[in-house]
Amino acid sequence: MKRALITGITGQDGSYLAEFLLARTDYEVHGLVRRSSSLNRQRIDHLFALDRSVSDRLHLHYADLADASSLAMVMELVRPDEVYNLGAQSHVRVSFDQPLYTADVVGLGTLRLLEAVRHLNRSQPVRFYQASSSEMYGSAPPPQGLDTPFHPRSPYACAKLYAHWQTINYREAYGLFACSGILFNHESPRRGESFVTRKATLGATRIKEGLQKKLVMGNLDARRDWGFAGDYVRAMWLMLQHDKPDDYVVATGQTFSVRALLELAFSLVGLDYQDFVEFDTRYTRPSEVDVLLGDPSKAMNVLGWKPEVDFRGLITMMVEHDLELARRERFASTYRQT
Ligand code: NAP
Ligand code: GDD
Repeated sequence: MKRALITGITGQDGSYLAEFLLARTDYEVHGLVRRSSSLNRQRIDHLFALDRSVSDRLHLHYADLADASSLAMVMELVRPDEVYNLGAQSHVRVSFDQPLYTADVVGLGTLRLLEAVRHLNRSQPVRFYQASSSEMYGSAPPPQGLDTPFHPRSPYACAKLYAHWQTINYREAYGLFACSGILFNHESPRRGESFVTRKATLGATRIKEGLQKKLVMGNLDARRDWGFAGDYVRAMWLMLQHDKPDDYVVATGQTFSVRALLELAFSLVGLDYQDFVEFDTRYTRPSEVDVLLGDPSKAMNVLGWKPEVDFRGLITMMVEHDLELARRERFASTYRQT
């Protein structure tokens, strides 16, 4: 049995990765969770409801990327073969409001975890995956690949870049099996509600069901290379199975504007986005990343990875999911009134 430790298991990617590893019968999965006043485990609850042959292989531990001693303790207790560092304050807009916190968790948090991994690696081999981000490319012109110079445009991106270089340095300095996956935007029905794709699919479906009248958005001209999170966690795993640690770009190689996203999401429920979408500077950023378009050729050639869900398939999947949620909410409110 291999042991995997996932920071950020309660997040979008953490939940898909845990599911993916548990589906392979040779993994025990350990997740790091933060103490909060109310439980935040909706994305992984279903895994505990599975057959005991699966749920018995899933374990949660309290720790925090801001707390080095808790990371060292979990590392010592679990003694993982593979560590996936997915934990982060991952919202770019919020990182402008909380730059120090973001730098601490995203940047120093990775260093704290790398130190704990380095210590364990003295007595057993440990493989480390770092969740790096296409945000690190910032204003670098597209397409962006492994040879593109970084130009980060947010506190989040600067912190991710620091973590990316620390990961590479631990590989070069200590011979750690450490990989940095530079992942372009990836989404799913489990995407946090304040990221633009989910905001669009929730907005369109709630408007369709009469639960909301308008959708207030920021910059509609930004372009992103959007893939499906389920496809991207497979790439993370493949990186740690390869015989040599390395860095990879994971992307679809296609880019769409936020406007095109809105057009598609609203049209899937028979509406025209222009009738409902309003603009507010509240949702713009002090410095924006205009265009992201990744070159995933190395991940495809070396790891044999390829995305299975395209942009239209992804947004359709999210709209169908959110339409069902909106219908249930409308039904519940009608039922309460009668
Ligand atoms: P997400 O849904 O926001 O999940 C973030 C996870 O990090 C949550 O489990 C969260 O726990 C945890 N976390 C936050 N602060 C923490 C702390 N101080 N200590 C420990 N855990 C903490 O993010 P995601 O979309 O799954 O992304 C996963 C990782 O990939 C992140 O590092 C993100 O920056 C990076 N990334 C994402 C994308 C993308 O498009 N999704 C692209 C490139 C890179 P709570 O549930 O308790 O909040
Ligand atoms: N969130 C949000 N809300 N974004 C909006 C809105 C809005 O109302 N209106 C326009 N946008 C634009 C943003 O300005 C940005 O250009 C784009 O939509 C995408 O925004 P997000 O979905 O918030 O994602 P992101 O690209 O900033 O960051 C995500 O992808 C990164 C990888 O490139 C996050 O998942 C990061 O954690 C990840 O590293």
